[in-house]
Amino acid sequence: MALLPQEVIQAKRDGRVLEGDAIRGFVAGIAEGTVGEAQMAAFAMSVLLNGMDRRETVGLTLAMRDTGDVLTWPGLDGPVLDKHSTGGIGDKTSLILAPLLAACGAYVPMLSGRGLGHTGGTLDKLESFEGYEVAPGRKRLRAVVARAGCAIVGAGAGAGLAPADARLYAVRDVTATVESVPLIVASILSKKLAAGPERLIMDVKCGSGAFLAEIDRARELALTLVGVAAEAGLLCRALVTDMGWCLGTTAGNALEVAEAVAVLRGEPADPRLWDLVLALGAEALCMGGLAAGADEARARLGHVLATGAAAERFGRMVRNLGGPDPFDWMPPEAPVVRPVPAPATGRLLACDARALGMAVVRLGGGRVRPSAAIDHAVGLSRVRSLGSVVRDEPLALIHARDEASAEAALGFVRAAYEIGPDDANAADPPIVRERVA
Ligand code: URA
Repeated sequence: MALLPQEVIQAKRDGRVLEGDAIRGFVAGIAEGTVGEAQMAAFAMSVLLNGMDRRETVGLTLAMRDTGDVLTWPGLDGPVLDKHSTGGIGDKTSLILAPLLAACGAYVPMLSGRGLGHTGGTLDKLESFEGYEVAPGRKRLRAVVARAGCAIVGAGAGAGLAPADARLYAVRDVTATVESVPLIVASILSKKLAAGPERLIMDVKCGSGAFLAEIDRARELALTLVGVAAEAGLLCRALVTDMGWCLGTTAGNALEVAEAVAVLRGEPADPRLWDLVLALGAEALCMGGLAAGADEARARLGHVLATGAAAERFGRMVRNLGGPDPFDWMPPEAPVVRPVPAPATGRLLACDARALGMAVVRLGGGRVRPSAAIDHAVGLSRVRSLGSVVRDEPLALIHARDEASAEAALGFVRAAYEIGPDDANAADPPIVRERVA
């Protein structure tokens, strides 16, 4: 006889290993709406506290995938590739990388997520474009992928793709239940498997802004992602990358989209952001057979940026999904913009990137309740990372809805930075820490 949701929760709460049927029944209930938010939160907390073994993690991943359809992509003249990140601050890599890969001959149906905990979400960012349809029907999704080479959209009930993840994700976002290897793996891979790519490159973050800050935990996550993907028949590689600082110079939805648009337009990119785009892009092109080695792949990525081919793909994607011409778009502006003056002169030694992310959430750029509306205009710009600062120079600019929220954010942002004596010989940490294949 099938277990009731509370019996499944109780079993995991008490540290027992869940049978496949129990996992499938619970996950089906999530997708059908018969498992409530409180039960999802209790389940997620039990998994976070007691873990899951590999068999359970594979079972959870496949059960979540199978709550919707699995897409296939017959008839395309290039490989179907995908990239996903475990979540960070200022991480607009997907917005730049998807059109770059498309311009190199790949097809990229990218199922992305909303903001999660202190991290931003690609779908929330794209909704800064008025009219952008994050849940197109299957026919439209196929048409956009065929025309633009890439489509960044949401999974979930609307699309009929991994709907269990969309519900569980929204609950995990606001219940401090994100930081669990099996939950992250099942969430990511259920979506990715549903989109039907042939190859997946994972960006697994470590450092102060990552869900799993310690490199050992990030490596465990990377190995589990690669292993579970293989068991599900998907070739996946992972880079463990540094999320100890904001990635790029902005954090917050429309501000990040504007930064990505500027990069695609050919304006100078933040060096760490561009290094990461190249590293992930080179892996993807090599996995997809579109380049013979990393140097060739990097050259191709640089070329399609320089010629404007990637920008053209991005423009096509946004317009075909109902948005404006992104290169002729005015980002929404927050009424209050305030600098955060550096409290001292010296070197930026460390950053609590999670605190920067939570400052954006507090400003209204993320959610404190599932399905709450977010403010696309707020966030941080000119965010400083590494290097030296002079007292009173801005560590960042705060974009806020009102003076009170700007004042509150100012304290959090200032406290996020550690400034110490300058040392001209200090080396910046590399953006790519490890590779897992
Ligand atoms: N990205 C996802 O899609 N899910 C997670 O749990 C974390 C990052």
